[in-house]
Amino acid sequence: MKKILISPSILSADFSQLGIEIKKLEQGGADLIHVDVMDGHFVPNLTIGPPVIKNLRKYTKLPFDVHLMISPVHKYIEDYAEAGADIITIHPEATDNLKESINLIKKFGKKVGVSLNPKTEIKTLIDEIENINLVLVMSVNPGFGGQKFMPEVLDKIKELKKIKDNGKYNFDIEVDGGINFSNSKKVLEAGADILVSGTTVFKENDGNIKTNIEKLKSM
Ligand code: DX5
Ligand code: ZN
Repeated sequence: MKKILISPSILSADFSQLGIEIKKLEQGGADLIHVDVMDGHFVPNLTIGPPVIKNLRKYTKLPFDVHLMISPVHKYIEDYAEAGADIITIHPEATDNLKESINLIKKFGKKVGVSLNPKTEIKTLIDEIENINLVLVMSVNPGFGGQKFMPEVLDKIKELKKIKDNGKYNFDIEVDGGINFSNSKKVLEAGADILVSGTTVFKENDGNIKTNIEKLKSM
């Protein structure tokens, strides 16, 4: 039975008490903490940056799964590595040279994530696939929590899974955006290893985080 990993997105958390919210996620059984970094340029929203992540680091030992929706991204990678990110995920469109940005993330000893927007094809990262630890498949257009899952990405997940199995690669497939109790099973069956969820984890069942994480894991 495949172990289902949950990486709750703190974008849906109470930003006035992120440290306490992260503790609740850890106690609720989260496997990673998905930190959505937005710059108001690459995506039309603005969230947090390195100083906040640095301050949140002490609240948990769980891996910080940092999703950089910022552009240009290359010159900021060091800041997020220093702030305590464990996985640094970038969008190919946000760097002039994906290979160099991947190498920079590795230079800081961090895991490399590359994110594919719904319209971005797998071929944009295929040349670097053996240097990638995590492919983050966006099932919404990035920028906001609470959006509707885009079912057309299921085919992309299946294709990625085929590439992974045929090439005997060991990158994780993580899916991000609109994941809920009615679509998570299909996403997992398509080949996802890790589910990102903000709204479902923080808002369902009167905000009972433990119940919601356990329910996603039971799919
Ligand atoms: C969107 C973010 C997602 C989003 C997920 O740009 O990358 O992580 O916050 O939130 P929900 O689960 O509410 O769609
Ligand atoms: Zn995200």
